[in-house]
Amino acid sequence: MDLRLSEEHELIKESAREFAQRELKPGVIERDSQGTYPEEEVKKMIDLGFIGMTVSERYGGGGMDSLSYALVMEEISKVDSSCSVILSAHNSLACWGIEEFGTEEQKQKYLTQLASGQVLGAFCLSEPEAGSDATSQKTTAVEQEDHYLLNGTKNWITNGKKAGVYIVIAQSHPEKSHKGINAFIVEAGWEGVSTGPKEDKLGIRSSDTCSVMFNNVKVPKENRIGPDGFGFKFAMKTLDGGRIGIASQALGIAAGAYELALNYSMERESFGKPIFHHQAIAFKLAEMEVEIECARLLTYKAAKEKDEGLPYGFSAAKAKLKAAEVAMKHTTEAVQVHGGYGFVKEYHVERLMRDAKITQIYEGTSEIQKLVIARGLVKN
Ligand code: CAA
Repeated sequence: MDLRLSEEHELIKESAREFAQRELKPGVIERDSQGTYPEEEVKKMIDLGFIGMTVSERYGGGGMDSLSYALVMEEISKVDSSCSVILSAHNSLACWGIEEFGTEEQKQKYLTQLASGQVLGAFCLSEPEAGSDATSQKTTAVEQEDHYLLNGTKNWITNGKKAGVYIVIAQSHPEKSHKGINAFIVEAGWEGVSTGPKEDKLGIRSSDTCSVMFNNVKVPKENRIGPDGFGFKFAMKTLDGGRIGIASQALGIAAGAYELALNYSMERESFGKPIFHHQAIAFKLAEMEVEIECARLLTYKAAKEKDEGLPYGFSAAKAKLKAAEVAMKHTTEAVQVHGGYGFVKEYHVERLMRDAKITQIYEGTSEIQKLVIARGLVKN
């Protein structure tokens, strides 16, 4: 597999880089400190076509491939992972599933709005007692005459308050365990839908994460995605692609911290020379270079497999595991390279270190990725 970027991919990467440095960097420290939602920045991502970039042109999206999406995620995450997680939840977790498994009516009604950025999407799988163990859904969707009655609470929902459309996973036939689970498209404005307070988080502080509650919400039958009982597989397949987005995010966080550490090491002098020329620092940077390249190759490989129509869940889990571990380890090292300056907000690396942590947790913890990989060893 050729993992070099084409001229077109280089251009997409460059335009995302330019956008992130020009539009996101100036206000990122303040947004993070205050936990302010990046309202204007999201509008700019809509104008640039990043929101809905992977949806086909037929439904008003950008028709871009997964590698382009990974490149955009990487460049935005070098600067502001609150913005990249908004992008990721929208593209990977809300748009993709509707396009892949939705009916033509669902696509015309919902995907077109999501593709244009008219509404944001969110994916509601996690629950207070169902995180890693996603089969233990307590949210119920009970079939009635012409609708399902939806009841339950979802936790940690990215875009929770801002979304106009939720993809909700719920149990319809508890006696069938995961084979009784369904996925639905639910509008945020429907009666019985409400949200909890915005979470005060360690990292990705300005993204909009909250609980979403469903109280006797009437969901029309035509809003179920796929056949009865398809919801668990739907969620797992959605997460396979989502993990490419989060691998790219983790990669960007690591690469952003590395760029800052490398530049700082050339400028900062101690014992009469730039600290880069002390092996203690140079060896750290050499290790970062190699490990980030490993994460990058795994991430691009998973994205290319998806683009080429090959199975990609196994590669996506490997990419996400590696990139998240690299992000956590090397953002910490980047703070160390900066010494005391690394510990203050102005130098950006402490934020990248805090942002890195979530990549080891959401869309499956590192332990869940190992489980998926280990199971894949038997199948592959
Ligand atoms: N594709 C298709 N089908 C799949 C699949 C996949 N990737 N993974 C599992 N399945 C199928 C299995 O084939 C099996 O089907 P059959 O019963 O027909 O054989 C069925 O699903 C059950 O699979 P398992 O037996 O493997 O289920 P499990 O309970 O043992 O484990 C798990 C599954 C891997 C642990 C899964 O629960 C998992 O991935 N958990 C993590 C959940 C997660 O990532 N949550 C993140 C929430 S989203 C988020 O973070 C969003 C955000 O805001 C950014």
